[in-house]
Amino acid sequence: MKHGDIIKKMTLEEKCAYLSGKNAWATRSFSDIGVDALYHADGPTGVRKQAGKGDHLGLNESVPATCFPTAATLANSWDVELLERVGEGLGLEAAAEDVNVLLGPGINIKRNPLCGRNFEYYSEDPYLSGKLAAAMIKGIQSNGIAACVKHFAVNSQELRRMSMDAVLDERTLREIYITAFEIAIKEGRPKSIMTSYNMVNGVYANENEHLLKDILKKDIGFEGMVVTDWGASNDHALGVKNGSSLEMPAPGLDSARELLKALKTGKIDESDIDARVDELIEITLSTKNKKKIKDKEKLLKDNNKLAREAAVKSIVLLKNEEKILPLDRTKKIAIIGDFAFTPRYQGAGSSMVNATIVDNVQRLIGNDLNIIGMAHGYTRFDKEDEMLVKEAIELAKQADIVLYFFGLNEASESEGLDRTHLRIPSNQISLMEKLAAVNENIVGIISAGSCIEMPWENNLKAILHGYLFGQAGVGAVFELLTGRYSPSGKLSESIVKKYDDVPNKRYYPSKERTSEYRESIFVGYRYFTTANVPVLYPFGYGLSYTEFRYSDIEVDKDKVSFYIENTGKMAGEETAQLYIGIKNSNIFRAKLELKGFKKVSLNPGEKKRLTVYFDDKSFRFYNVATDAFEVESGEYDIYIGSSCMDIRLQSTLYVEGNMKISPYKKDELPSYFEGKVTDIQDSEYRILLGRDIPDGSWGGELRINDALCQMYYAKSFIARFAYKMLDKKLKKSLEGGVPDLNTLFQFNMPFRAIAKMSNGQVSMEMVHSIVKLVNGHFFKGMGGIISGYFKNRRANKMYKKNFLQREDRE
Ligand code: BGC
Repeated sequence: MKHGDIIKKMTLEEKCAYLSGKNAWATRSFSDIGVDALYHADGPTGVRKQAGKGDHLGLNESVPATCFPTAATLANSWDVELLERVGEGLGLEAAAEDVNVLLGPGINIKRNPLCGRNFEYYSEDPYLSGKLAAAMIKGIQSNGIAACVKHFAVNSQELRRMSMDAVLDERTLREIYITAFEIAIKEGRPKSIMTSYNMVNGVYANENEHLLKDILKKDIGFEGMVVTDWGASNDHALGVKNGSSLEMPAPGLDSARELLKALKTGKIDESDIDARVDELIEITLSTKNKKKIKDKEKLLKDNNKLAREAAVKSIVLLKNEEKILPLDRTKKIAIIGDFAFTPRYQGAGSSMVNATIVDNVQRLIGNDLNIIGMAHGYTRFDKEDEMLVKEAIELAKQADIVLYFFGLNEASESEGLDRTHLRIPSNQISLMEKLAAVNENIVGIISAGSCIEMPWENNLKAILHGYLFGQAGVGAVFELLTGRYSPSGKLSESIVKKYDDVPNKRYYPSKERTSEYRESIFVGYRYFTTANVPVLYPFGYGLSYTEFRYSDIEVDKDKVSFYIENTGKMAGEETAQLYIGIKNSNIFRAKLELKGFKKVSLNPGEKKRLTVYFDDKSFRFYNVATDAFEVESGEYDIYIGSSCMDIRLQSTLYVEGNMKISPYKKDELPSYFEGKVTDIQDSEYRILLGRDIPDGSWGGELRINDALCQMYYAKSFIARFAYKMLDKKLKKSLEGGVPDLNTLFQFNMPFRAIAKMSNGQVSMEMVHSIVKLVNGHFFKGMGGIISGYFKNRRANKMYKKNFLQREDRE
């Protein structure tokens, strides 16, 4: 223990109270013994520090901060140096606001394109996610504050995210869902990690011994502090025992009493409490001396510039027929689309930033381009507006080139809500088709934080995919349109032709209690390349205004090297990607997996030799027979590609491995060996899991961990009525175009969270009574709620009076 001398000065009750938050963002503090409050703020896209009354979903306004491109966007840069600088920028703003812990980056794997939070995450690939996260963490922490990498782990769907049980085999867990955290933690050394809301194989992530003790602490070597996601604590005592230090946001003193009780029953020891208190004190003290920010105004100006640079390097050029881009300045240009007037540059939920200044097209147009007019063309609601359409078509007729700004509306991508399809609003498509009928030179500029279907792409001559490009993104778009820079973004996820092509479409999102990861390791391009399913734009893909030639590959046991030459007429950047595969393997494998990448900047005619080193991840797989990462001996294919489906150079390398027992039999897992995983039967899945498939079906009485939206089949009439009201409210807010995050949160939260989020007003005992009421036992339930209320109030008062004398009072 590092801080035994301080801990000695705390009473047991103080220590127990210290392990859960005091309010939405801060811990308790005991300044007379040098323990200040630890202040948290979201997040991954910008600092969301709430100045007034705090709420964790961003309903109350936060202090203005730079809104950088979201993680999904930044990931397209494949630029670790850039991510480190963005991290630094974020860290400086956090330090200026006296924040100790910045709640980011989020690195969950994009298992399925419908996940409502994909815009907040980096990639479908763990290696890329891990490397980018490590850089971001280093940047954030360079300012003396802590980064908090989240959400650990296997948090892939928003629907009932707080009660969902992710059921997956150990190999998939380790190779796909943990590897990103492993890289981020080993290389970035975050001081903090946030556990996810869901269960993993039957146990909540925050109290999961296997996740927290075996994997996080023992195998990965994480030394920092574990914090729950906001409201994610289920069994606080078990969390504390297994390594989770801080329950957030503010469960009141009920959680402290839970620890005292667990000590009495022997469920936990005082040494568990001390170890967690020690971790909490350590992060508090080590983030005390943050960088001092003298000139915040200048910082915000610098960060706005950085946000633009980041967007320039992240926007992806998907298509550029007849080299219509960069724009010819002599041509007459029309700008069409509501997104040009009110850009969509970030997603909704806890990551939402109160941007300092937002670029928009009107403000940016100078004399640089020959703009003949602007028209809205459509509204944000998916309804055609004849007047707007007419005006847009008239404008398009007069122009040589139309810049069409469009994409996903605000309501489509949000924390707390999975998408139900991959389409953009039909009024935007219908306008696009009408514009294409009168003008053949349409350049599409897309805003969408995650994958969308593009059956309409033939209407467009060029496409710049801006993802959610942050507050300065529109400026970045113009830098690329005008050719000031050449686009260099490459997709960090596959863009499918149609949702039907997605490997886990049958298993996602789960509406049962369990979510079965039957597709195993075949996520994203791992599946498409192995099962030979064509995609529209593959992982790693992105065009440039210039061309690159790859040549002279050389491979030895440590590395692969090769030349890249800029053979075009413009300076540009290219990201070369190292993929590795093995044929005739004894285990099932993806055809190829990303194992390295390098971004290089080249002037026209310039040629550079690049070297990518192999590392401990290059050839390994997780052997479930021995419970260890191992290497299979054999001839490996070494690919250097400009995307996963555009392999430019190829070689082989024999690697002597250490695998002695193969964990699989080909005839038992035929679908996995073929990579055809869209319809895995129970018999095969059971073998993959190595145990019975848990029963995930709903039924019987509701439990404290069932989500409030399950009240639709509650026995109690009052509960069903409450459900109807909630549902009505949610639907209404979605029709209005902007999701009501509070209602969304309540919809998906379990009964248990009522106690965890109520700042001491509701105890767990009361929650049990609420559930009784919901299940039709009105009098028992009501009686319990009323007596529980008074009992809780008395207990809270007593705890404060008798045991929390030293704690700072506001
Ligand atoms: C989100 C976290 C976030 C936290 C605090 C939760 O709902 O899942 O990502 O950091 O709220 O706002």
